[in-house]
Amino acid sequence: MRILTPASLNPAIRNVQYAVRGELAIRAEAHRERLKEENHGLPFDKVISSNIGNPQQKGLDQQPLTFVRQVAALTEWPPLADLAPGVFPPDVVARAKELIREIGSIGAYSHSQGVPFIRKNVANFIQERDGYPADPAHIFLTAGASAGVSLLISMLITGPNSGILIPIPQYPLYTATLAQYNGTPIPYYLDEASDWSTSVESIEVALKEAIAKGIEPKALVIINPGNPTGALLEESTQERLVKLCEDHSLVLLADEVYQANIHNRATHQFISFKKVVSKMQSPVPLVSFHSTSKGVTGECGRRGGYFECTNISEPVLALVYKMMSVGLCPVVSGQIGVDTMVRPPKPGEPSYELWKKETDATHAALASRTRIMAERLNKLPGVSCVNSPGALYLYPQIRLSKKAIEAAKSRGKEPDAFYALELLDRTGICVVPGSGFGQKEGEWHYRLTCLCPGVEEYVNKLERFHREFVSEYNSS
Ligand SMILES: Cc1ncc(COP(=O)(O)O)c(C=O)c1O
Repeated sequence: MRILTPASLNPAIRNVQYAVRGELAIRAEAHRERLKEENHGLPFDKVISSNIGNPQQKGLDQQPLTFVRQVAALTEWPPLADLAPGVFPPDVVARAKELIREIGSIGAYSHSQGVPFIRKNVANFIQERDGYPADPAHIFLTAGASAGVSLLISMLITGPNSGILIPIPQYPLYTATLAQYNGTPIPYYLDEASDWSTSVESIEVALKEAIAKGIEPKALVIINPGNPTGALLEESTQERLVKLCEDHSLVLLADEVYQANIHNRATHQFISFKKVVSKMQSPVPLVSFHSTSKGVTGECGRRGGYFECTNISEPVLALVYKMMSVGLCPVVSGQIGVDTMVRPPKPGEPSYELWKKETDATHAALASRTRIMAERLNKLPGVSCVNSPGALYLYPQIRLSKKAIEAAKSRGKEPDAFYALELLDRTGICVVPGSGFGQKEGEWHYRLTCLCPGVEEYVNKLERFHREFVSEYNSS
């Protein structure tokens, strides 16, 4: 009998890399286990999970929205409404009843594209957000945005010469999925000097180079607001990007999972690509992704999301539907999560005040942590940090001495991974090194999230570590 080994598997799987859950995260987990021992010998008493945008993870403090959980509870077990009279507000009871009427049991497979009633609600949400019509037939509910991204990439890649334009730095779902389906990433660089903006010129350069190498560019990925940068696109840039897709016959893949994470809504506004494409009356094929994992909902484990197709022909939509139906249906509890995200309580409804209080608290915490961290990081020697207007992250650049770079090499590590490992081992703060997201040759970064409570305390620790590291590895 032949033994199953990694070498006997699809080689594409071995090429997949996903740093967000890589070496640092595994080591942080080991530290966390060790901390349970009485004499753990570690120089810290807790691990700070600054590495992952998982708002409700243990140790982080984003509270689940009461409305979302109450509707979930009553759709899971409908008799609860009568068994616990007066516990659930009347709008929650009404919403759960309405959903159950449409869905039946959440233990049954739904329509492969997602429950029609929930898709109609998603279409209304998009229409209200953008001021342009949305068609429920063009909306596909998914198990998080990841499932939709993966499906679209699997359909677009026709061989190793198919390329997709990926921002650098990027969220590694894109390169990982491209590796899985044997496609070629075409990296384009975001401009750190102008607050991580997206430069149409840099995409043009990347396109030219790819075409010269015989790669056929199929799609452009834009993450707005950005991960790991937190940058927010301006409408004029979005218009230029749509025009670029027109000129080069590219499908636009708009990852908009952070659309609700805008830190100052008086000065910054999220504008969807659906709105820009509609306003321009552009024929560009657009797929826009959204999720229940981020924003104020933060329900990563519920696996809810959707994508909307714009300017996609009926035969292609039929193929998307066919592939969705191979997976039978999106998680039904995730679909209910999408419904509560796109139909939150309205002013005057019984659940509104609490919902408003909870969502305001989440927005305020993210905004203040982001500001405090960016301000203090920028005061450290050899560190510069763009203050991000959106998403959940900061992506500071660290300039490392020759001595630090050599020390990293002697341990077989990238310099930023070495820095991040030292930070973890000395302080318990877990971040993700920039090499996991991509960066320019010779530059080093790390990503840290703005989700951890106790910002003053851990920024103090981070500052102390950085100063120690700098003086220890001072080249002179
Ligand atoms: C930019 C971006 N897109 C997509 C996802 C996937 O999210 P989910 O599959 O949980 O919706 C993430 C998760 O962190 C992300 O940062």
